[in-house]
Amino acid sequence: MNSGSERRHTRVLAPEGAGVFEAAAILRAGGLVAFPTETVYGLGAHALDALAVRGIFEAKGRPSDDPLIVHVATAEQLERVAVANALAWRLARRFWPGPLTLVLPKRDSVPPEVTADLGTVAVRVPAHAVAQALLRASELPLAAPSANLFGRPSPTRAAHVLDDLDGRIDAVLDGGPTQVGVESTIIDISRTPPRLLRPGGLAAEDIESVLGERLIRLTPSTSSQGPQSAPGLLPVHYSPRTPLTLIVGAAGIPAARLRTEVEAAVAAGLRVGVLALEEDRGVFSSSVRLEVVGSWSDPAASAARLFEALRVLDAADLQVLFVRELAEPSVGLGQALADRLQRAAHRIIQA
Ligand code: TXA
Ligand code: MG
Repeated sequence: MNSGSERRHTRVLAPEGAGVFEAAAILRAGGLVAFPTETVYGLGAHALDALAVRGIFEAKGRPSDDPLIVHVATAEQLERVAVANALAWRLARRFWPGPLTLVLPKRDSVPPEVTADLGTVAVRVPAHAVAQALLRASELPLAAPSANLFGRPSPTRAAHVLDDLDGRIDAVLDGGPTQVGVESTIIDISRTPPRLLRPGGLAAEDIESVLGERLIRLTPSTSSQGPQSAPGLLPVHYSPRTPLTLIVGAAGIPAARLRTEVEAAVAAGLRVGVLALEEDRGVFSSSVRLEVVGSWSDPAASAARLFEALRVLDAADLQVLFVRELAEPSVGLGQALADRLQRAAHRIIQA
């Protein structure tokens, strides 16, 4: 089970009872199991088994200098893998289980494969009932990155996991679509002041209200050195294969520019897709393939649908894709949406 290079038979397991029991047994034997969390599906392995963890990197085609998040069942188990501090307990009490990942000094029990040789480890307690059942049944800390091939959008359904990893992993627990749809928010509290490494499913403002101070934000220019970087500090990360153009700008302007760009591409004879808001329905010619995610005022809905919509459009035999900013980019979940769109885009137009 430990060599990731051979072809594996990937089983689809029911998300309760015998399915979870079987998944736990596979993990205890060093295998790879994808499972739903409230954010996206993760690809899990026994976090303290270096060989099992290496299998994750092989299955995903992920570079080994990109560290993994360790998932534990309860906040109390944080100390199994990390050295907690007072701030960690405060945040854990308030936000766990949930879409918050804390970076803390690591324990020696965590193999260097998990942390890309860093002195720190990223930890979270997922809220999804199936993730919880699996952590409890296996009695293991589980290292789990998103269960996609490296560079592809994160999976929000079991079918997305199979699209990318069928034949490369041992099983997937099919728990239906995930609720949040974007990955967890990652903050580094191993040093002061705390730093936001990745905006995600928990709004930075909510964390700041507990901290009583603003998180230091990484800008791509200050954060691209080495494995300390959070995911996606690579220029293109959550990326469709069809070229995607993102249009950003002050309120109202991107909507108009989206329309002119799309109509120009249609006029040029291209097959065009748009990842759209409700507000954009009915403004394009009928040959444009629309995938509606949500509305400007409901970023949570757009987050839940974003990665699936990217996959749907990417599979629709189109030549170019367009999207405009989906929500206020500096507020709440809008930060995560803006971040993921920028990483998915091949070109950004400042309108
Ligand atoms: O919602 C999520 O976070 C999902 C679900 C499955 O839990 N997981 C996820 O994992 O998004 P992944 O591998 O796609 O992103 C984990 C990122 C890494 O890319 C890395 O940059 C950051 O977490 N990370 C992990 N350990 C770190 C560390 N010690 N220091 C800084 N960043 C770290
Ligand atoms: Mg990922």
